[in-house]
Amino acid sequence: MTFGHKFAKNRVARFKAMDLLIDVNIVLDVCANRMPFAPISAAALQHCKDQGAKLWLYAGSVQTMEFNMVREVMRKAEAQNTQIDKRHCAALARRALKVFAQDKHWLASLAGEGNVFDSQDPEDEQLVRALSRFTADSIKLLTRDDKLCERYPQHTITPQQYLQAPQQAKPLSFIDLAGQQDNLRPQLERNVHRVLHHGQYIMGPEVAELEGKLAEYTGAKHCITVASGTEALLISLMALDVKPGDEIITTPFTFVATAEVIALLRATPVFVDIEADTCNIDASKIEVAITPRTRAIMPVSLYGQPADMDEINAIAAKHGLTVIEDAAQSFGAEYKGRKSCNLSTIGCTSFFPSKPLGCYGDGGAIFTSDDKLAKAMREIRVHGQEKRYVHTRIGVGGRMDTLQCAVVLGKLERFKWEVEQRLRIGARYNELFASKVSKVIQRPDRTSVFAQYTVFVDNREQVQEKLKAAGVPTAVHYPIPLNRQSAYEALSRISGNVPSSDAMAGRVMSLPMSADLSQREQDQIVKLVIEALSK
Ligand SMILES: Cc1ncc(COP(=O)(O)O)c(C=O)c1O
Repeated sequence: MTFGHKFAKNRVARFKAMDLLIDVNIVLDVCANRMPFAPISAAALQHCKDQGAKLWLYAGSVQTMEFNMVREVMRKAEAQNTQIDKRHCAALARRALKVFAQDKHWLASLAGEGNVFDSQDPEDEQLVRALSRFTADSIKLLTRDDKLCERYPQHTITPQQYLQAPQQAKPLSFIDLAGQQDNLRPQLERNVHRVLHHGQYIMGPEVAELEGKLAEYTGAKHCITVASGTEALLISLMALDVKPGDEIITTPFTFVATAEVIALLRATPVFVDIEADTCNIDASKIEVAITPRTRAIMPVSLYGQPADMDEINAIAAKHGLTVIEDAAQSFGAEYKGRKSCNLSTIGCTSFFPSKPLGCYGDGGAIFTSDDKLAKAMREIRVHGQEKRYVHTRIGVGGRMDTLQCAVVLGKLERFKWEVEQRLRIGARYNELFASKVSKVIQRPDRTSVFAQYTVFVDNREQVQEKLKAAGVPTAVHYPIPLNRQSAYEALSRISGNVPSSDAMAGRVMSLPMSADLSQREQDQIVKLVIEALSK
């Protein structure tokens, strides 16, 4: 499908041309200003940038680029009858390449692109092999090399062809993981390759490194990485020795995992209603839900904002209960200056890819400052093992693998900045919507990392349809509260009634949110949401 510039103005979408891998001849055209090719080669690169597509340089071509660029500089010096100082020419060449590379992405050369000596042109073969990593038609090699174009027509494009090619629409992402990866590629590739080389895929050094960094970040004494956020909650309950018939107080307005782990242990989820403005558990309704069977309170820091943790901790202390914060959505948020995950005896988070701190698969972590609980959690994580093949308790296979820890370590390098951006973008949504759109309220004594930016709408399906047509993806977290899920009806108990949870399930709608969301994109989303609501 193709869209013209006019349509682009009325629709939120990044109108993205195909990404380009830049062949050395194009690099030289632009860097050495080779005539008559330089203008059209430069125009193709500019066009790619203007469309928000990526320009790639192949790391395996660095030497060819440098060798030829030095030759170009020397040739120019010769033509101008300037005295040729080879070292000076090399320095000029490298400087030009360095400037050129500044806004490009480096495409790593991988092992499979090494043994190309049977090929008529090994370097071309390398480039084509590198392109095979991408999905069809998402990238082409920009080149002026006729022979290359003839041999690999499906992988190559000339500057002229590129400038004439129709634009492709790339819809706005609900969560822009690709944009995040573009900014973290060197760290991610370095970390993943390191694991491939040391080969300790289970409990490799990255696991302890990540646990140390995350514990330090939250201020909790212990961090225990686990296979997922769900596993974090399950292992926490197992470490508390929750038994069949025990009751765990929680919110019905959450992802199913929160109650699922309780039910898995044959304990009873007891649902307490939420506050209609924050969608978090209403702390003032917890105490009446407590019975002699209550063992723990499990508030969820929904959408990235912690619940009233002081009040919840005080109730728990009064009744001898443990508080487990389900912080799957709130890693990085703060409550009265303290980090989410370290706001109660136990905090559990998820590294599901779309979470504020995500990996590229499943992962999670438990935080506690209680030494005994931490020891139990570490053992339960590995089949209840005290030492190898000595099983002193029932456990699970619940480790987070080394590769996923390596990914999170890479992402941590930019996480502080990402949290700042999330706070800024969330505050900007709040400001731009002002009184025109009702939304989840932020309490002044805490922050939200906006795992979701959520507004309240009455005719949700229609609004979602309109926004979809305008290129704005939306999502609903969550359309059916857990007390209304058939699997939980017989297994759970509702404390009093849950009118706010029922009502909000029909009204919540989440909007695109990522640390890399641009102001322009956000302005368009806001405008379209206000329009969709007013019609
Ligand atoms: C509130 C909540 N709890 C628990 C989980 C479970 O995390 P995971 O998907 O990593 O198992 C999630 C993830 O979606 C969540 O949002």
